[in-house]
Amino acid sequence: MQVCEGKIFKNCELAHQLVKYGLPRDQIATWVCIAFRESTYNTEAISYSHCYGLFQICREWWCSPPGKGCGVKCTQLLDDDIEDDVKCVKTVFEQTRRLTGDGFTAWEVYPMCKNASSSLSYIKDCNF
Ligand SMILES: *[C@@H]1O[C@H](CO)[C@@H](O)[C@H](O)[C@H]1NC(C)=O
Repeated sequence: MQVCEGKIFKNCELAHQLVKYGLPRDQIATWVCIAFRESTYNTEAISYSHCYGLFQICREWWCSPPGKGCGVKCTQLLDDDIEDDVKCVKTVFEQTRRLTGDGFTAWEVYPMCKNASSSLSYIKDCNF
């Protein structure tokens, strides 16, 4: 049996994985800020409102059961493999962008990460 364990990311490791899984480079600082504010980089984070993982993907709409938006089980968003999290983040971002014009607004913490130059401090020591 495979045991899926979570982990606490370091900011630069996270930044590099986000690039690897296809998030745009010019958004990485904002995403790292969002991950910090949502979960303090802890993939095992679960909120009382049933939101899961690094980016706090919520069960109501996005993960299963019962939400179907991303077609992923909520518990799969808690392990150290964040490829499925990033895939779901892209879905949430795109669907929210269609509704509001800005995909980041799906994340409640976004106002704290919106200033691009201050979000850069989250990845300032990372080699890109
Ligand atoms: C964004 O953050 C930078 C650096 O912290 C700050 O100098 C600037 O005033 C901020 N801009 C806005 C619009 O808040």
